[in-house]
Amino acid sequence: MIASAPGKIILFGEHSVVYGRHALVSAINLRCRVEAKKSREFRIISPLGVTSLDFKTHPYLSFAVKRFCELKKIDGVELIVKSEIPIASGLGSSSAVTVATLKALSEEFDFHMSNEEIFEIAKKVELDVQGRGSGIDPFISTFGGSWIFPERRRVDISFDFFVIRLWERSTKLMVEKVAKLREKNFEIVESIFDAIDAIALKAPESGIEDFEELIHINQSLLRAIGVSSAEIDEMISKLEKAGFKAKLTGAGGGGCIFGIYRGKRPEGSFIVKPEREGVRIEDS
Ligand code: MEV
Repeated sequence: MIASAPGKIILFGEHSVVYGRHALVSAINLRCRVEAKKSREFRIISPLGVTSLDFKTHPYLSFAVKRFCELKKIDGVELIVKSEIPIASGLGSSSAVTVATLKALSEEFDFHMSNEEIFEIAKKVELDVQGRGSGIDPFISTFGGSWIFPERRRVDISFDFFVIRLWERSTKLMVEKVAKLREKNFEIVESIFDAIDAIALKAPESGIEDFEELIHINQSLLRAIGVSSAEIDEMISKLEKAGFKAKLTGAGGGGCIFGIYRGKRPEGSFIVKPEREGVRIEDS
């Protein structure tokens, strides 16, 4: 059985969403496909290598299988992963592979979980690997579309986005870094989160110019909580000089930056579009 799930772009609200604030997120038109085949052993084949269950090389896949086995005992499975989503880049490759794996397992082994059940297990997998998380990534990979999270309000995002890929980084480490800063400067960081919350809520009602202004403000606040860097700031100001507004998306520290695509895109960028469909079964 083959299942696929989309990646995502957090438009506003990364990090503050971990502490209960709102975020605006869209699924994107890049997908991860996972094929599950009954087998007598556990085998994972992906661009990261060929392994058995392996919590170092394939943490999300391995925890997804482990969590599935708690619900339905299986003796083995072969999982083949093909993904269009760049790894460790803030575009949701980890949750897309988790959600697609759970859907493929669920159908291959006649367990037929609902999307709500898939989301609940994918959230546990995220916590297994990262220790902390809002659930926004598994949510959007499961359900697709554009949403104000966590209140699950569907919104219409009519822009396409340019994305520039920086370098790989660990979501877990970036989330821990923000947690430490918050512990040390509780009131200050909480007020930054409140400001980001207001941005996420205002954005869906904003036209293109105002949306870009919010991109600029949110990026400054991400910088304030320590998830940007001198190199990233410099890149963003160069883009601003060339007429683009851009911000980090996802955990930061690298990953990707994005802005609204207005018919002209910066050198080295690619275009992503909001995607309506979440996890689905694919024809083999
Ligand atoms: C990661 O894509 C988004 C973060 O806000 C973490 C989370 O919400 O779980 C950094």
